[in-house]
Amino acid sequence: MRFTKLKLIISLLICSIFLPPSSPDPNDESCLTNLFNSIQDPDHNLQNWTKPTFQNPCSGFLSNLVGATCNNGRIYKLSLINLNLHGTISPFISNCTNLQSLDLSNNSLTGIIPPDLRLLVNLAVLNLSSNRLSGDIPPTVANCIYLNVIDLHENELTGTIPFQFGSLMRLSVFDVSNNKLSGLIPASLGNRTGNLNRFNVSSFYGNKGLYGYPLGPMKSKGLSVVVIVAIGLGSGLLSLVLSFTVVCVWLRVNDKKMADEQEGKITQMMPDY
Ligand SMILES: *[C@@H]1O[C@H](CO)[C@@H](O)[C@H](O)[C@H]1NC(C)=O
Ligand SMILES: *[C@@H]1O[C@H](CO)[C@@H](O)[C@H](O)[C@H]1NC(C)=O
Ligand SMILES: *[C@@H]1O[C@H](CO)[C@@H](O)[C@H](O)[C@H]1NC(C)=O
Ligand SMILES: *[C@@H]1O[C@H](CO)[C@@H](O)[C@H](O)[C@H]1NC(C)=O
Ligand SMILES: *[C@@H]1O[C@H](CO)[C@@H](O)[C@H](O)[C@H]1NC(C)=O
Ligand SMILES: *[C@@H]1O[C@H](CO)[C@@H](O)[C@H](O)[C@H]1NC(C)=O
Repeated sequence: MRFTKLKLIISLLICSIFLPPSSPDPNDESCLTNLFNSIQDPDHNLQNWTKPTFQNPCSGFLSNLVGATCNNGRIYKLSLINLNLHGTISPFISNCTNLQSLDLSNNSLTGIIPPDLRLLVNLAVLNLSSNRLSGDIPPTVANCIYLNVIDLHENELTGTIPFQFGSLMRLSVFDVSNNKLSGLIPASLGNRTGNLNRFNVSSFYGNKGLYGYPLGPMKSKGLSVVVIVAIGLGSGLLSLVLSFTVVCVWLRVNDKKMADEQEGKITQMMPDY
């Protein structure tokens, strides 16, 4: 009995010696350092985002950074929400290769969505909503095949919705409402078939240039074709009437002048009595 206890203690000791403590990861360090450099934090919400912590952001399953969650010594979740963060999203965020959830929603981030996000092959949740992000939605984000959630609502994104997103089998939340997107909603997203989640109007509304199911058909800019034709015909008719009137008036004036002149001549020719 005592012997087994001793054996257990010895084996535990051996284990703790030979199992390495979760060693810092150079990729996570690069990711955090560059992300911290690319954002501004005027309210000092990221107090413990400091250089020494970047070198060692995790102790096993515990994180040393506000907003970060660790799994086995690697960052697997970043949630920096409602922190009034400014600046841009560093492309080096793609070095947090174990990231499964990236939520930077409801800040004031500007610039583009880095196409390098495609390197985050474990990503399941991407929430960049309520920022001031601009530029196109990178189609390569569809490389992250485990994506469940793409929430980009309330930004200033332009261009079209990448049809490649239609191939994301696990996509259950998709929201690009209130941006500046344009073009046809890919049928691969608007009209998904089978067991794939379908997305309704609320995923797409608030984008002036966007059309196609589940939104309406393409709108010609402001005015319908009938109105444009009517305006064309109307103005044509109006200018016709106007020029006709001008010519008439001119002719009449000329006529009168000629008549007057003639009358003058006649008066001149009249003998004096
Ligand atoms: C980080 O990302 C950059 C650009 O994607 C890459 O060149 C670099 O090798 C990555 N790793 C580290 C540790 O910086
Ligand atoms: C950093 O801040 C968070 C939240 O305030 C806290 O949970 C964490 O323990 C802090 N880490 C360090 C190393 O101070
Ligand atoms: C976004 O953040 C602001 C404060 O920064 C807060 O008032 C607002 O409720 C937040 N919105 C959401 C949806 O969390
Ligand atoms: C994304 O973040 C916003 C703001 O923090 C939140 O309201 C919304 O529910 C999140 N989206 C998803 C799909 O969880
Ligand atoms: C998409 O589905 C709607 C309703 O089921 C249908 O009216 C529309 O024609 C479909 N569009 C395409 C491109 O399949
Ligand atoms: C759209 O779908 C969401 C769930 O994905 C639901 O909460 C919402 O009520 C739906 N809106 C409309 C207008 O059908």
